[in-house]
Amino acid sequence: MPVVVTLSGSPSARSRSQGLLNRAAQVLAQQGIEVQSFTLADFPAEALLHARFEDPSIKAWQDAVAHADGLVVSTPVYKAAYSGALKVILDVLPERALTHHVVLPLATGGSPAHMLAVDYSLQPVLTALKARHVLGGIYATDKELTWQDDGSLLLAPEIDDRLHVAISRFLAHIPNPGHVQLDPDLLHAQLRLGRVSL
Ligand SMILES: Cc1cc2nc3c(=O)[nH]c(=O)nc-3n(C[C@H](O)[C@H](O)[C@H](O)COP(=O)(O)O)c2cc1C
Repeated sequence: MPVVVTLSGSPSARSRSQGLLNRAAQVLAQQGIEVQSFTLADFPAEALLHARFEDPSIKAWQDAVAHADGLVVSTPVYKAAYSGALKVILDVLPERALTHHVVLPLATGGSPAHMLAVDYSLQPVLTALKARHVLGGIYATDKELTWQDDGSLLLAPEIDDRLHVAISRFLAHIPNPGHVQLDPDLLHAQLRLGRVSL
């Protein structure tokens, strides 16, 4: 079964970007995907700020990413970029941590003018982590995300539709459910026998 890790990069206790991410996780789970969720609250601030790689929370995060097929990451727009909290969580991943992963970024902001801000700022970080494929992200403004009396977040229908389309694309880019790695020697032998073509 494919495994997807979600990461919320918002420091807010009541977070729109995390609400959007939760909706994505819900849609993935409905598709039979195993979802493992991480938020800033899963990490002691000290461990992140001092990059304590040996901290159990950081090891758990690294392990989860290593065994996942995809990552859905959400962030609020802060000062025309992604949040600093998100950066410190990504900083403790090893080099090439996303080599086998497809990534879907989600972002929320107060202004439609910053629609591309996260793409411009986050994309280079994901590329530095060698993400196999980064999908075009979903951006929602605060006006498109409304808190309900019961504490849930209501997405504007257009945002929910775009999220469903993005998740279909995301799943289509997971070619190797279960993270099956080809052994180079075995691949060579199979190529010689003509059982595999590239
Ligand atoms: C410190 C700070 C900086 C912000 N900077 C921007 C910004 O540059 N552009 C923007 O559109 N919204 C900005 N906002 C608004 C947030 O991006 C927006 O409210 C977002 O939905 C918050 O997400 P959250 O609830 O997940 O934290 C800022 C908010 C804060 C608190």
